[in-house]
Amino acid sequence: MNKTAPILVQGAMDIEIEVLKNSIEDVEEIIIDSYKFYKGKLEGYPIVISKTEIGIMNCGIATLLGIKNFLPCIIINQGTAGGFGNIHRGDIVIGQECFNLNSYKTPYLKKGEGSNPFNWELQTFQEGIDQFEKIEADTNIFQFIKTHEKEIWNGSVVYGTIGSGDCWNQEIDYITYLNEKYEALGEDMETIGAYKIAHRYEVPIVGIRVISDNEILQEEYDRTLADKAQEFAISLCNKWIKEGNK
Ligand code: 5AD
Repeated sequence: MNKTAPILVQGAMDIEIEVLKNSIEDVEEIIIDSYKFYKGKLEGYPIVISKTEIGIMNCGIATLLGIKNFLPCIIINQGTAGGFGNIHRGDIVIGQECFNLNSYKTPYLKKGEGSNPFNWELQTFQEGIDQFEKIEADTNIFQFIKTHEKEIWNGSVVYGTIGSGDCWNQEIDYITYLNEKYEALGEDMETIGAYKIAHRYEVPIVGIRVISDNEILQEEYDRTLADKAQEFAISLCNKWIKEGNK
């Protein structure tokens, strides 16, 4: 294993990096263009914790800075997410795929004809190719988690699609629509920013989310669950380091 390339672990808020920071040794705070990074060691292996701050744009910038400055071997983006469907608070979602909730084209409607989000077509805009796009997690890390799930985590783990955008949806009908039409298991505000940049720079990435709220099941937001995603990430890193992957 390349012992010099660190694992980059990201979290958006202080409560989403606190457990990580407390789990590593020789911590050094490095501020780059006002984004915070914490360099340290986990089981003697180099690791960098990144506070991306909230939202797609912040996360994209922090991911780019993380890649350029630390040349990580892999990126783990983790944090909280709202659950869609029958996923409970405290469950872990592994983002096999991710799509942008904010990227859409509306049909034309005349003055006075109102607005209907159910008719908006989610799609990404690329010169010459406008189509709905899901970005995938790195296959190796994804398969690694699946294979070692029981050794990594004692709890419910679900694999599938995460919707990600600068939005917090609380309308049951719209949540159900996103769940049924786009197969989103939940939503957050960062994963798509991290996936997009990591793909562009060909750095393997996986997104790990703990469900902190679920409107459908009437489970209110519990920010303290942020600990769980970090514990999962640490456990994954330990396993990853031990098994000699990079
Ligand atoms: N919708 C959107 N973002 C959520 N988060 C937790 N639950 C939700 C939800 N239901 C996360 C986001 C962001 C922070 C506000 O909480 O990823 O970082």
